[in-house]
Amino acid sequence: MPQSPQPHLSQRALQAAGQPIGPLMSMALANPDIISLAAGFVDNQSLPTSITRQAAEKVLTAGDQSKAALQYGSNHGDEQLRQLILQYTIDMNRHAAGDMQPYNVDLDQIFITPGSNQFLFLLADTILDPGDIILCASPSYFVFIGAVKNIGGHTYGVATDSLGLIPQALEAALQQLESEGKLSRVRAIYTVPYFDNPGGTTLSAERGQEILEIAKRWSRENKIYVIADEAYRLLRYQGKDVPSIHHWDPELEHTIVAGTFSKSFSPGIRVGWGIVPRELAGPLGDQKSNLDFGAPHLSQKIMATVLADKLWLGHVDKLRNVYMERCNAMLSALATHLGDVDGCHWHETQGGLCIWLTLPNHIDTGLDGGFLQAAVDAGVIYVPGEYCFASQGEPANHSTIRLTFGVQSAERIEQGVRLLSEQVKAWQ
Ligand SMILES: Cc1ncc(COP(=O)(O)O)c(C=O)c1O
Repeated sequence: MPQSPQPHLSQRALQAAGQPIGPLMSMALANPDIISLAAGFVDNQSLPTSITRQAAEKVLTAGDQSKAALQYGSNHGDEQLRQLILQYTIDMNRHAAGDMQPYNVDLDQIFITPGSNQFLFLLADTILDPGDIILCASPSYFVFIGAVKNIGGHTYGVATDSLGLIPQALEAALQQLESEGKLSRVRAIYTVPYFDNPGGTTLSAERGQEILEIAKRWSRENKIYVIADEAYRLLRYQGKDVPSIHHWDPELEHTIVAGTFSKSFSPGIRVGWGIVPRELAGPLGDQKSNLDFGAPHLSQKIMATVLADKLWLGHVDKLRNVYMERCNAMLSALATHLGDVDGCHWHETQGGLCIWLTLPNHIDTGLDGGFLQAAVDAGVIYVPGEYCFASQGEPANHSTIRLTFGVQSAERIEQGVRLLSEQVKAWQ
């Protein structure tokens, strides 16, 4: 019998293997009544059907312009939408900082992508060669960690505290990399400054500025960018907005901003964006034109109409109320059920959709640790924290959990945290 030929998989495809979502979804699907505190979905009830219908109707009843919305758009993305996003970014920063900082950013520096994940991937693919390094908070958004790995790059974790990435630890990490002769491989520092996924932390304005200063100071042989992934910026339930890192870099020389309407409007529309320094606009545009030469035009036109007709921020106010209740439900359930258990702690997030929970050291929350299966059997599922650690730098903490409160009702959140805490106590 002739041997059947072996399929060839690219190195990149092999590097894409091992993403956590598949096994977690299978576990959740095997138990349909499970309370998922794992999903990164948004609240289903609040999805803006009527606003979207109103905007779509306007887009599709505009004569020839309607036809244009159903035609390919430009590689960069819809101009009106880019203009609106730029204005929004500037207004938010000026409002948060209480000043009128002049900005110097062109529309050519803005790209619309089908979700900010695609922008982050494109960016990584544009600035990284295999072996290059991205510094990031420990823990960090695991999809971005996966993207860097897929490209053959390394993520290097930097210690965090309740205020996010610690500037002194960032400085120490750069010193360490320099002593290993790897400084020239450092391309960027990735941050989720507002209500980090998974850490739940928010960088203060001072820390944001310090991180930017560090990036500038260490840009010796090569430029080191600061990526500010602002996916959750608008989902604030407590405290005052802080200016984006971009505010301290008005020429956008070192900062790259990523944003999305997925959390603050609808992930089904899947419109995200990126704003890049001038020198990256050409190369990133070239990469993009290989990938899609333009995000779905209709979605962009609908989002542009939602923004132009001022239908967006009112909706965000409603979302804030929904999520604030759930966030409070999760924080108070954690305090009630785990507040007096030694070794359990979490950050009191001021917004976003997740809470980072640390359990006692002897509990391994990972896929093979036994605890996850016990939690699933008890009726609750979470994302094991081990997926959220970089490949180098700060070591992974295997006793951590990412909890999300976006999908379940306050009652189910309370029930889920109670079930989880019963398992924690049973494993004491
Ligand atoms: C920190 C962070 N960045 C980016 C994204 C990407 O969202 P999207 O691709 O839907 O815009 C997410 C989604 O969960 C996220 O949590």
